[in-house]
Amino acid sequence: MHFRSYTLSDPRNILVTSALPYANGELHLGNMLEHVYTDVWARFQRLCGHQVVYLCADDAHGTPTMLRAQSEGVAPEALIDELRDAHVRDLKGFLISHDNYHTTHSAENQKMVETIYLRLRDAGLITTGEVEQLYDQEKGLFLADRYVRGTCPRCGLADQYGDNCEGCGASYEATEILNPVSTLSGKTPVKRSSTHYFFDLPKFSQSLRDWTSSDAVSGEVANKLAEWLDAGLKAWDISRDGPYFGFPIPDTQDKYFYVWMDAPVGYMASLIHYINGAGKTRGIDFDSFWNADAASEVVHFVGKDIIYFHALFWPAVLSGASFRTPSRVVAHGFLTVNGVKMSKSRGTFILAETYLLHLDPEYLRYYFASKLSPSIADIDLNLDDFLNRVNADLVGKLVNIASRCARFIEKDFDHTLAAEIHDAELWDAFQASRQSIAAHYESCEVSKAVREIMALADRANQYITRHEPWNLIKQDDKHDEVHGICSQGINMFRFLMVCLKPVLPETAARAEAFINAGELQWKDSAEYLREHRINRFVPLMRRMDKKALIRMMDDSKPPESPAAQLTQEQAEDNKHVSLDQFLNIDLRIAKVLAAEPVQGADKLLRLTLDVGTATRTVFAGVKSAYAPDTLIGRLVVVVANLAPREMRFGTSEGMVLAAGEGGKEIFLLSPDSGAEPGMRVR
Ligand code: 2FM
Ligand code: ZN
Repeated sequence: MHFRSYTLSDPRNILVTSALPYANGELHLGNMLEHVYTDVWARFQRLCGHQVVYLCADDAHGTPTMLRAQSEGVAPEALIDELRDAHVRDLKGFLISHDNYHTTHSAENQKMVETIYLRLRDAGLITTGEVEQLYDQEKGLFLADRYVRGTCPRCGLADQYGDNCEGCGASYEATEILNPVSTLSGKTPVKRSSTHYFFDLPKFSQSLRDWTSSDAVSGEVANKLAEWLDAGLKAWDISRDGPYFGFPIPDTQDKYFYVWMDAPVGYMASLIHYINGAGKTRGIDFDSFWNADAASEVVHFVGKDIIYFHALFWPAVLSGASFRTPSRVVAHGFLTVNGVKMSKSRGTFILAETYLLHLDPEYLRYYFASKLSPSIADIDLNLDDFLNRVNADLVGKLVNIASRCARFIEKDFDHTLAAEIHDAELWDAFQASRQSIAAHYESCEVSKAVREIMALADRANQYITRHEPWNLIKQDDKHDEVHGICSQGINMFRFLMVCLKPVLPETAARAEAFINAGELQWKDSAEYLREHRINRFVPLMRRMDKKALIRMMDDSKPPESPAAQLTQEQAEDNKHVSLDQFLNIDLRIAKVLAAEPVQGADKLLRLTLDVGTATRTVFAGVKSAYAPDTLIGRLVVVVANLAPREMRFGTSEGMVLAAGEGGKEIFLLSPDSGAEPGMRVR
């Protein structure tokens, strides 16, 4: 990817976005990876004096939101309002500097998506066609693939997803699957046809090829897009039948815009909302960003899983509706934790809120920054490396430069820096890195910028160590030299703080107060402060406490499995259980007599179980996958002799068995018909 060359004399107007988080769940560290990436880039542009509007919103619509609201017995509007508040709180917690955070369930978005749709329709780009889908008669819903399971039509493997088989890797239509079952009702769905609305995506194949080769995406993404374009594009189904939580399509009966049709339009709607509200005084003009010939930049940061939507559908929809296409789409990989996909059952699915309860957001901002690049390779949060790197780099190197020098400037030189540069060659080396650090930020190669900055921090520390000002100060004739060394130390620290301000905004603010020369701007990295009075040094950052990190991980474990994280040794010991050990576990069939949500516990249901001889209360973390009503009368398998567990909400007298990763992916184990409460399971 080629980026424009970086010049300060060329003020730019840039609209920057992060992908809109779904409104149906809490934010996790994977969301934060993307927001930190975008935020660092946006803050860098502001630091350079460019006009940035950084926007985001919740992606409110779609079936999952509707179902979660139903299962919680609330209106979808109430659910999305509550989650939006939680999202805004977490994003602020991570110091994400959005200028506006809106929602796609807004008047602005409805108007905008209708405008776009009508422009597409007027341009002859919308067609209709009949689509046969599986329909759940009990729920009264057409089933998206994810809500269907059944036998693979190619290899015959049972219990496969509605669109692909984990056994043979085949992709198929949900209507092809054998013995389909709706995961929503447990019933067999029927095939049913309905009219759908399609956007003529193939018409844009050539213009998408041109856009792809215009440096809007990295080479890696361009290759992926070329594969899709070579395979041929299909018309895109932009409609869904009701009931659906979304906007009705104008001039239709009970048809709604598919969530991915109105989601990216949320970028525009968030801008309109900002211009009419908090951003009123900034003189921002919608057309200057979105008109077909707009000169301002539009830059989207997205995860690799949604490249298709942002680099094919979105530019095509925009061109079809006579708007501009994005200047850049920057894609990144997924977050893994300790080398594996984040997993609730392993206790590595870390919510943003949980992190913030225990640790400073700047630790993670820095760690992510040290790994972020426009490659779609996954990014690992290795917890040991996280602790070591943050403490070594930020406390051991960066802050150390200031703390080693400040005490001499304060005590021996009346808080005032020297008039001359002590080691001009070293300062020149810092200056020589300015352009390349800026170029790395500009091209979203944040990890390269951080590497170069930390290499300079090493040089600064080596310089101080080599000169040993703490020894020189003991010699009267060396005082001037100590003054020069420590003043240069403070200047180098200031340079590094300018460079890291996009990553560490709060530490930078503390450094600004200490250095006492105003708010740091990019141009300040070219300046050497002479005979300047600094303020008293205050500690700029604390070491990360390993115990806090462990507490965060403990809090991320699912309530049902306190031993989620095993060491290698424990894993070896646990490889086998003896038959006796197994037989000691009293597994019983139980019948769910009652199921109800637990106040203050998002994930739990309080189940009253008939275990044959008695009734038991069991708290089960299955709420995200099961509406309470659907469980009543159902047979489950329960560990009957588990020691009772005191929880915040009462005592849990057993555990029900379920498979799956969590969220919607929880599958309760149930016996075949004929089994009765109280029967022993072996
Ligand atoms: O993948 C997701 O999380 C989507 N909610 C992203 C939407 S981005 C934009 F198109 F709205
Ligand atoms: Zn198969």
